[in-house]
Amino acid sequence: MFRPSIKKMDPYTPGEQPGPRERLIKLNNNENPYPPSPRVRRAVGQAANAALRLYPAPRADEFIACAAKLYKVPGEMILAGNGSDELLAMLFRATLDRGDTVAYPTPTYSLYDTLAAVQEARVLHFPFARDFTVPIEALGRARARLTIICNPNSPSGTMTPVRSLAVLARKLRGRLLVIDEAYVDFASDNALRLLKDHRNLVVLRTLSKAYSLAGMRLGLAFAHRSTIEALLKVKDSYNLSRIALAGGAAALSDSAWMRRNVERVKKTRAMVEVRLRKMGFEVPPSQANFILARMPDHDLSRVTRGLRRAGILVRYFSVPSLRDAMRISIGTPAEMAALLRTLGPLVRAEFGEACRRSA
Ligand SMILES: Cc1ncc(COP(=O)(O)O)c(C=O)c1O
Repeated sequence: MFRPSIKKMDPYTPGEQPGPRERLIKLNNNENPYPPSPRVRRAVGQAANAALRLYPAPRADEFIACAAKLYKVPGEMILAGNGSDELLAMLFRATLDRGDTVAYPTPTYSLYDTLAAVQEARVLHFPFARDFTVPIEALGRARARLTIICNPNSPSGTMTPVRSLAVLARKLRGRLLVIDEAYVDFASDNALRLLKDHRNLVVLRTLSKAYSLAGMRLGLAFAHRSTIEALLKVKDSYNLSRIALAGGAAALSDSAWMRRNVERVKKTRAMVEVRLRKMGFEVPPSQANFILARMPDHDLSRVTRGLRRAGILVRYFSVPSLRDAMRISIGTPAEMAALLRTLGPLVRAEFGEACRRSA
């Protein structure tokens, strides 16, 4: 009943979602530990009481107008998606036929592999350097039909300088370069300003992380008008509900609320980085709302299972290049204190030697 490539491919594996009655500390999906702006709740309530019998605006006009105002980008250069995942799916669908090439540094967001498999595209993986530097030259030479840079990258949390992205965009002229900026609100720079000089650039944002709206499913793509027009052809007509659109517009109208929460997360991140390094972990400098904790040459699967038994979820990726690592989302200070309290004894029991420095 299904295409051979669909039968053959592995599905994307999302992080564990606890059941309604499970009380876990959830540090596995890079969600925001703080609630969204109170304006969102009000707007959602009003939308629910208003015209739900009618379809929503196909082009998300009000939400886009808020984004245009906030980011100072014309509305015709913005497309709204059901999370940035939907925008990624549209990009893959619109650009890749069977056998076409898509390139990105690895390890990165594994959904790219899934979307490529659906299109039967040929994936060119470019391993990051040990310090997570992006191989710009090699990616530029490859000139894949679609190139993606996740920036800050997941799961490393590391950031590629925007000037390097400009160099890459120039090398890829005539080919799309997507910068997935899902975590960029937690970083010190972003690539939006490159849009005016690079017609081949797409910048993706989400309201799932910094705006605390993962449950609402809202993403934004910024790109040249001709790219937006092409993407509109593969978009579901009514891809965002009236409730999501109202909530999204309200969230963007209160970016001060978002910034306050981002600053709290960044402060906790700095504390956790220091504590984990003292415990013996290698932690690349993170510009996101998570960190990668690495114990070189040690398998961290048992440690992450130990955390799970203690009611703490972190993300473990069972791929060879990440066996010695776990990705930990930044929660509240209390949640992170619980993590550190539980992690210390687990690490000492598992690799006494490696963490002797922490004593
Ligand atoms: C790098 C990256 N891009 C995109 C997404 C998707 O975000 P959204 O919730 O907007 O679909 C995620 C989600 O975790 C992510 O890690």
